[in-house]
Amino acid sequence: MPNPYHYGTPVSGEQFAGRADELAALERRMRDGINVVLSSPRRYGKTSLLARASADLVAEGAAVVSVNVLACRDLPTFAGRLVSGTYRVPGGRWHRLKEALSAFVSRLRVSPVVTFDGDQPRFAFSAALAPADAHTVIEDVYALLAEQAAKRPAVLVLDEFQAIIDLGPDLPALFKSLADTYPAVSLVVAGSRQHLMEALTGARSAPLYGLAERFALDVLPEDEMTAFLRERARAGGKTMGAEAAARVYALAGPVPNDVQRLAYEAWVHAGRTVTVADVDAAMASAVAHEASQYAERYATLSPGQRRVISAIAAAPVSEPYAASFAATVGLATAASVRRALQALLAAELVTRRGADLQVLDPFFRAWLLQTL
Ligand SMILES: Nc1ncnc2c1ncn2[C@@H]1O[C@H](COP(=O)(O)OP(=O)(O)OP(=O)(O)O)[C@@H](O)[C@H]1O
Ligand SMILES: [Mg+2]
Repeated sequence: MPNPYHYGTPVSGEQFAGRADELAALERRMRDGINVVLSSPRRYGKTSLLARASADLVAEGAAVVSVNVLACRDLPTFAGRLVSGTYRVPGGRWHRLKEALSAFVSRLRVSPVVTFDGDQPRFAFSAALAPADAHTVIEDVYALLAEQAAKRPAVLVLDEFQAIIDLGPDLPALFKSLADTYPAVSLVVAGSRQHLMEALTGARSAPLYGLAERFALDVLPEDEMTAFLRERARAGGKTMGAEAAARVYALAGPVPNDVQRLAYEAWVHAGRTVTVADVDAAMASAVAHEASQYAERYATLSPGQRRVISAIAAAPVSEPYAASFAATVGLATAASVRRALQALLAAELVTRRGADLQVLDPFFRAWLLQTL
């Protein structure tokens, strides 16, 4: 039996749990031409949610173009992916014309290089394409989508949008102006580096401020996640009791990726029934696999950072700037704690959950506890 759990890359189908409310809210906005900024810390499930919503919209007949910005090495590549995605939109009017390809290309003011992948055309631009020409391509794609929006929902999904700045400093402003010009297209941008997304879309001075509704994706609730774990075990031909599922969540939760990763390991360890002992053994072996990487990570930290993260690993901390915390970790002042903590937060080793500071990666946390 293949392992019924999956982690590391987006999930779909049976491996996609819950999210009913988030999906309904996102899809409604996509249908209505509302712009959305979807953000969360890493590995909460943004890409999976976008893929599911996009697939649902396409099944309803919507025109959806999706590009992962981070996967585009430069601006011409980004422009090429936008064009390829737009051509592939099922039911685009250009497909119904006899000379579909040339009719489509004639809509672009900058001619792409066309190659064939089987009988699917793929569009690209020279790496030397000038930024102004790339902007023209982006405008043309947006206009094509807007034309579709007259008849059916039209959506442009840009995942890892925080990377847009690396492709060109003027791109946020360009998308702002296109979104204003073509309000019927739903522009959905998603990203994980929260401070960057904030800088692009949230702050009053940000280029996309006020352009879009902001969605902060949370983790899946514990009861949904544990019910999912047990259901997946069953689908894979094993049993996972409520206690074992709760143990997975307690050790690896709440980030869905980490929960699935521990469940994956526990499944490997277990016989026909996944027990609490299997979960504990799986945790130990997952930590052992990564031990050398964790040791290296720890070695890069300053002495102050090490003290602070070790204390947070031992128990979540809610008052890091209290004199008592500085004393506990052996730092002289709250200012030294603040410095260490800011570095740990920026490196995404520590995160704030509700009122508490916690070590972000539960496997690293377990390593810290067992090593120090
Ligand atoms: N709805 C879900 N049901 C079950 N597992 C999920 C769900 N969403 C995410 N996961 C888990 O999280 C992992 C990462 O999902 P995904 O790649 O969609 O997250 P992301 O937020 O886009 O991550 P990144 O920040 O790295 O881009 C998946 O491999 C899966 O283990
Ligand atoms: Mg993602």
